[in-house]
Amino acid sequence: MKKILSLFALLLIIAAGACSKKKTSDNISDEIAFKKADELLAKMTLAEKIGQMTQIDSSVVNFTDITEYGIGSVLSGGDAMPSDIHAKGWAEYCDRVQSMALKTRLAIPIIYGIDSLHGSNKTMNAVIFPHHIGLGASNNPVLVEKIARITAFESRASGFRWAFSPCVAVPLDERWGRTYEGFSEDGSITAALGAAEVRGLQDSFETNGIAACAKHFIGDGGTQHGIDQGDCLMSEKEIREKFLPAYEEAVKNGVLTVMASYSSIKGEKMHGNRYWLTDVLKKELKFKGFIISDFDALKQLGGTSKQTVEKGINAGIDMVMVPYDYKTFITNLTELVEEKKVSEERINDAVRRILYVKYKAGLFDSPYSDKDAALKVGSAEHRAVAREAVRESLVVLKNDNFFPLKKDLKKIVLCGDRASDIGSQCGGWTIDWQGSTGKVTQGTDIVTAFKNAVSKNTEVVYSKDGSGLDGADKIIVVLGETPYAEYKGDRTELTLSPSDEDLFENIKKSGKDFAVIFISGRPIPVTEVISKSKAFVAVWLPGTEADGIADVLFGDHKPKGKLPFTWPASMKDIPINKGDGKKALFDCGYGLSW
Ligand code: GLC
Repeated sequence: MKKILSLFALLLIIAAGACSKKKTSDNISDEIAFKKADELLAKMTLAEKIGQMTQIDSSVVNFTDITEYGIGSVLSGGDAMPSDIHAKGWAEYCDRVQSMALKTRLAIPIIYGIDSLHGSNKTMNAVIFPHHIGLGASNNPVLVEKIARITAFESRASGFRWAFSPCVAVPLDERWGRTYEGFSEDGSITAALGAAEVRGLQDSFETNGIAACAKHFIGDGGTQHGIDQGDCLMSEKEIREKFLPAYEEAVKNGVLTVMASYSSIKGEKMHGNRYWLTDVLKKELKFKGFIISDFDALKQLGGTSKQTVEKGINAGIDMVMVPYDYKTFITNLTELVEEKKVSEERINDAVRRILYVKYKAGLFDSPYSDKDAALKVGSAEHRAVAREAVRESLVVLKNDNFFPLKKDLKKIVLCGDRASDIGSQCGGWTIDWQGSTGKVTQGTDIVTAFKNAVSKNTEVVYSKDGSGLDGADKIIVVLGETPYAEYKGDRTELTLSPSDEDLFENIKKSGKDFAVIFISGRPIPVTEVISKSKAFVAVWLPGTEADGIADVLFGDHKPKGKLPFTWPASMKDIPINKGDGKKALFDCGYGLSW
């Protein structure tokens, strides 16, 4: 009898192992994906090939054109969106787009792309995670992979099959409006967390995975004065040391797409740079997927629209985010091939890569959304992971015995409009491109989080302007930045807003002790605020789950976050980064606990 039982137990263990192996290896192999791609490519006409290289924005979608031109991809960039942006509404829209693609002669499925940068952030009531800067402070690859898997689930439930993420920029100048899209000024943290996000997004394509996109190749975070889409003057050696490791790691982890950067290197636009796009990324790093252009970026290459297409495609761009005038793009590229200015070989390479990605991403096997999945978008289980990320991302820069707070205090006053503002917590790229203040989506603001944490005898008061401080046991001021994205976030001066200045003056006049919770997409040299406060906590752009802030500030969890960026004492010190010999207010890697 004993022998039978032990044999049965052994069989169970083997079966369990096989199952677990099946789960992680259910993505089809590169060999099979390329074999299928080659077979399909051989059947395609030039028009069908060029259609696959064309990505259009949903704002200009003409459904019959999707079929007529064999469009390869649709994105909803900027503020493009259907009338119903809940998961179900998005999924219905994306499925309708897909149905038109499957009416083409070869029924090649469309891949729908979206900027799911910190959750499925264009889906109403999806969970919004901390932006990358906060995840950089957590420096926890296991957590980042878990977040990415949920982002993939909630994005795919919305019909999206490709996220234009991770941004693996290494921001070196806080004046850049995209600093918060980066994980850290430390290239090794960026490489580790970017790879973790790729793994999480692209796991289990049969059921959950979506294609990832490492961006923006290369040097976007190293431009002069942090100017968005500007010029990087660093040497090739510096660029390779600082920025290339993140792409090496992303490629090693199987990233299926890479987005070219708007920026330039020594005056040469990256979108026309054959050396970096083809010789380095495709040949040296052996990147097998496809390179997508950035939004309408080819026109920055100079010359006629046809010349820009010639430059970009010959440099190594495989799919063009046109995204509006797709008929002109298709005409231009067709003529360029006929005139032998773009070779059939280049077209075939681009389309083979695109088809490879579509096979890997499971689009041929399951082109439509899973209706049941939409019901789990924004679930309590997903929100709990976001709450954990908030806990791990906040960084305590100062604490003169102010925190942790007792839960049975008589009165706590939270000052400033950001204390009760989901939109500010989430920052840019949330529902709208630029994000916005106000109740932009379902979530928990800081005031509510504090009320959730305290005893029933404790009064939590929200004071927008800093009045009503009498009788307060603790006063906490919420300061920081208002949402922005891309070049709209570029600044020459990083200071408090006028309303925050007024609030700070009111609090100072009261002569009472106070702490600061700072919501921002980057370090801001608010040195006087820090010196006058009893405690200062950088929460970055934490997303919808502010309960994670209360978890730490009321002592249920210890603060673990470490600065992913050097914190400057003043504007004159910027740019300031680890190892550059300048004196920082707080060094990269700094963070207190208790
Ligand atoms: C934007 C951004 C890029 C984004 C793309 C689509 O201009 O540069 O990061 O993925 O367009 O929205």
